Amino acid sequence: HGTSRINEYGHLEIGGCDTVELARRFGTPLYVMDEDLIRKRMREFRSAMAETGLPHQVAYASKAFCTLAMCRLVAEEGLHLDVVSDGELHTALQAGFPPEHIHFHGNNKTPFELEMALEAGIGLFIVDNFVELSMLNDLAGKKGINARVLLRVTPGIEAYTHEYIQTGQEDSKFGFDLASGQAIEAAKLARDAAHLSLEGFHCHIGSQIFETEGFRLVVDKMAAFIRECRETLAVETRILNLGGGFGIRYQKEDRPLPIRQYVQAIADAVKTAFAGEPVIPEVWLEPGRSIVGEAGTTLYTVGTMKEVPGVRKYVAVDGGMTDNLRPALYQAKYEALLANRAAEEPTEVVSIAGKCCESGDMLIWDLPLPSPRTGDILAVSCTGAYNYSMANNYNRIRRPAVVFVRDGQAKVVVRRETLDDLIHNDCLSPEPVQVKR
Ligand code: LLP
Repeated sequence: HGTSRINEYGHLEIGGCDTVELARRFGTPLYVMDEDLIRKRMREFRSAMAETGLPHQVAYASKAFCTLAMCRLVAEEGLHLDVVSDGELHTALQAGFPPEHIHFHGNNKTPFELEMALEAGIGLFIVDNFVELSMLNDLAGKKGINARVLLRVTPGIEAYTHEYIQTGQEDSKFGFDLASGQAIEAAKLARDAAHLSLEGFHCHIGSQIFETEGFRLVVDKMAAFIRECRETLAVETRILNLGGGFGIRYQKEDRPLPIRQYVQAIADAVKTAFAGEPVIPEVWLEPGRSIVGEAGTTLYTVGTMKEVPGVRKYVAVDGGMTDNLRPALYQAKYEALLANRAAEEPTEVVSIAGKCCESGDMLIWDLPLPSPRTGDILAVSCTGAYNYSMANNYNRIRRPAVVFVRDGQAKVVVRRETLDDLIHNDCLSPEPVQVKR
């Protein structure tokens, strides 16, 4: 992916940086992010959208990977930002991200989060449910603000990797259900809310999607719903946010479409579905994984090994489910190579274990490698999305550092946690507080 290649030392190189040298300088595990590839993906979305001729907006879904440096990069590339918590919002604001280009998602935004976002002057809220609708209206009223909102609709279409499933009865914690009439009811309430301005609708059909049919179906459904809103409620909206979900290539056999193809298909669907309508909506997208996923590589040091005779060889690395939860949580598959022996042919099949006290902490099963030795550097590819952002301190393991690499230079954008960071919030002898009434 991106700027990766094997250099003259037979080492994996990313962004002009020798990964073995990166591991030596910054330690392992280490998240290495290819800055040029991140920028390239953002530009692909922007130019593909521009080519459609439709009014549009692309927001990066920061849940995939959110740090100060990343927010700054998103701002530099002119994308908008999707946040889902006070923490993501704080990160964006501290990075100097323009608040009016931020929108706020989530199925349980707290009063604190709503107030914080209103005060910051964020661009728009994506309202998920009836409780939030009235809470946001009240809070905006108290502040004398008019909050711009989209309503999140659960369209009854869920796309999975290769297939899509149409469910008549949508069972999801997110959004206003379309089939049961919740969505139209919410539109009416939003229309009549004194301190909200209803600008459009949002839907998200899934993640790691490899086809365009799900998008076509959902655009048709949303077009019919928008027509219904106009005809029955006289609600005229101008934004249709179709979420994210564009797939990436974790493994050789994965066949994601080029970004341009997803965007073209969506644009064609919108043009067809809204032909003859008074308003063609602005199309908003919220890609996360497809911006950062392929740009990330995690470097580990090979430690211990164990052979179960005649069964398999376990090769343990100095990280695992603490820095990459996805294999344990979703049985996600990854590819890897030995960064310091990248030109060597595989000679055996091994399984990569993490270091957590948990049998399920396996990063990769049955990986062909040149016979690994203690001290080798293992590079797991495609770890840019939902790895750092889902990292945790299970077993009090420290979270790794993150470096951005570009043109032979590395920048530490997140420093490695220290042992003292782990006990930073612990209180050894706290003053007891009287709580009993
Ligand atoms: N917009 C909304 C409303 C979303 O819920 C999501 C992802 C996105 C955009 C971005 O989707 P993407 O383009 O990244 O597929 N932790 C899981 C993925 C959870 C995605 C949740 N929502 C994973 O590691 O695969």
